[in-house]
Amino acid sequence: MSNQVTIKPIETVEELNQVSLIDQLLFTNDFYQPEAWNNMFLNPYYDLICLIDHDQVKGFLCLLSNPDEIEIIRIGVHPASQRQGYGSLLMQVAETMAIKSNKKLLLEVSSHNQKAQNLYLKCGFVVIGKRKQYYLDNSDAIIMEKSFNH
Ligand SMILES: CC(C)(COP(=O)(O)OP(=O)(O)OC[C@H]1O[C@@H](n2cnc3c(N)ncnc32)[C@H](O)[C@@H]1OP(=O)(O)O)[C@@H](O)C(=O)NCCC(=O)NCCS
Repeated sequence: MSNQVTIKPIETVEELNQVSLIDQLLFTNDFYQPEAWNNMFLNPYYDLICLIDHDQVKGFLCLLSNPDEIEIIRIGVHPASQRQGYGSLLMQVAETMAIKSNKKLLLEVSSHNQKAQNLYLKCGFVVIGKRKQYYLDNSDAIIMEKSFNH
């Protein structure tokens, strides 16, 4: 992997716009509107993180902090940059934040999304529940978490 990779909070409108565009590419049917990205950016309970390689935003992470847990709302890597370890790097950032704040990590993933399930299992998440036919395409939501020994 290139040593030009930086992972940092989204700070500029340009970074937010690039993330919004990647989100549209990845989630064609249920991407967040630019206004929703802007609202999350302004909301102190959300952390929006971007991964930059050679001055280009290649991936993002959207986290929501609750009292006991940090929820991974969305993670995405540009289609042309997938399977190069970026997703794993972003998950490590979520993990570091959870450990620092003494919280567990929680997420929901579609039963049809094998790529993401593989990523989460590889990162040590375990399945704790299921919501039947939760998504618009009738797929189940699989609820996963990762706890840390404090
Ligand atoms: C899920 C996603 C973030 C993974 O990002 P990535 O940068 O490709 O992930 P990595 O390169 O770090 O891969 C880590 C692991 O994820 C799994 N994985 C990634 N791509 C995969 C694929 N095409 N098929 C199967 N498993 C895959 C593998 O377990 C992989 O480990 P391995 O390479 O040792 O087998 C990316 O595929 C993506 O953006 N998908 C669309 C958005 C999405 O579904 N987000 C999750 C729901 S919010």
